[in-house]
Amino acid sequence: MPNESNHPIEAKLIDLAALRQKSVLFAALSDGEAWELIGLSRQENASARQDIYQVGQIGDSLHIVLEGRVKVSLLSEEGKEAILSILGAGEVFGEMSLFDGDPRSATVTTMEPCRFLVLRRQTFLPFLEKRPQVMLELIAEMSRRLRATNTLVGNLSFLNLSARLARILLNLVQQYGKMSPKGIVIGLKLSQEELGHLVGVSRESVNRQLRLWVESGLIEYTQGTLIVLNSDALFREALAS
Ligand code: CMP
Repeated sequence: MPNESNHPIEAKLIDLAALRQKSVLFAALSDGEAWELIGLSRQENASARQDIYQVGQIGDSLHIVLEGRVKVSLLSEEGKEAILSILGAGEVFGEMSLFDGDPRSATVTTMEPCRFLVLRRQTFLPFLEKRPQVMLELIAEMSRRLRATNTLVGNLSFLNLSARLARILLNLVQQYGKMSPKGIVIGLKLSQEELGHLVGVSRESVNRQLRLWVESGLIEYTQGTLIVLNSDALFREALAS
């Protein structure tokens, strides 16, 4: 179980300026409102690979990521996984059940140790009702996610494996890429199995494609760390269908 805490000393550890930069929700609030919202929430810590929600569970709370990353996924009856999204600091999850009262629409699992702010429906909804600008930011964020999911479904339906994988890698470059003398290092360790879950194919298929790209000098891939050596060539792969 995640470790819960309401301790005021821990609440002080929140870096509001950093949170504002990463969170559309906090960016829409004044300092006073932001601290009020933090005061209405509790903090929760979780170690890596912990399920925060499981699909189908009843839930009336929303999480804001303070530190770490989570994956949002669906699991088939045979235990196959499809990753819908990876969320990091400042991002929100759990808003769907909080708004519509239906069970959790996906499983959310920590990929690394995480720290969250947790808000309950009965405290968050009255706060939102008084601040329509924050409501609009949340609606905009839900629209962006729907667009991203549309893109994912389109890619799964219309593109071959190499184009899908190239697009995922370019997305990861955009979100987590750091320049290095060698190339662009993707600052998020992903196993070949997880890459497969993002692209909708088996680990073996991902392995075959990555080996081809390693051999042709597009990427380097060692122990889960991916370096893009030739981003132009990866763009060309992403455009070929
Ligand atoms: P909820 O349904 O309460 O619990 C699971 C959460 O995962 C959901 O709220 C959203 O916050 C998040 N989620 C579900 N589907 C997606 C998606 N397609 N893209 C990004 N996040 C999602």
